[in-house]
Amino acid sequence: MRKILILFAHPAFEKSRINRILVNEIEAVKGVTFHDLYEWYPEMDIDVKAEQELLIEHDIVLFQYPFFLFGVPALLKEWMDLVLVYGWAFGSNGNALKGKWACHVITTGGNKASYSKEGYNRFTMKELLVPLEQTACLCGMRYLPPYVIHGTNVMKPERMQEHAEHYREMLRLLADQTFDPDSLTGLENLVDQFGKG
Ligand SMILES: Cc1cc2nc3c(=O)[nH]c(=O)nc-3n(C[C@H](O)[C@H](O)[C@H](O)COP(=O)(O)O)c2cc1C
Repeated sequence: MRKILILFAHPAFEKSRINRILVNEIEAVKGVTFHDLYEWYPEMDIDVKAEQELLIEHDIVLFQYPFFLFGVPALLKEWMDLVLVYGWAFGSNGNALKGKWACHVITTGGNKASYSKEGYNRFTMKELLVPLEQTACLCGMRYLPPYVIHGTNVMKPERMQEHAEHYREMLRLLADQTFDPDSLTGLENLVDQFGKG
């Protein structure tokens, strides 16, 4: 069984609607380690060594968070800057993460149509996530398409629950050694594969 690490970052989890439902659904999935960064590091004092050890123990790293001004919440950026360092994650001898998979699981307020050239957000998610894709690439990780749930601000709880069940199915599949995650490469949004879009 593959081991999956979920690095979760939500600065106001107590107010969350969709991420709360997603997390409730997936916490008990076998092979999944759920790691809530804002709970562990409310003062942003990240234990770099502990985080690196956690990464080494897992095969797949999922970054789960609400989209904040077209990027990751501040603590997750801090985590990346401190944990993914030269000489460990990249650069000469920096190959600790080589061959592991990386995937971003993102919830957005904006709807799907807004994330297009013609939409009010002007860019696609793939375009907006380029620095994160390149970070994974720099670390020798295999970058999977993102799992993006759009339009969460106006979404009904029943629909959120459906998404959560699809998310759980994705985790089960990724954990299964007989499934090849590389077969997902090239898709635009994993939600289209595991959910109903
Ligand atoms: C500070 C802040 C910045 C946000 N920036 C974006 C954004 O850039 N694009 C977007 O689609 N939604 C944005 N949103 C909406 C959130 O992504 C959305 O409310 C969240 O994904 C819902 O998840 P939750 O119910 O778990 O909180 C932002 C929300 C906040 C509070």
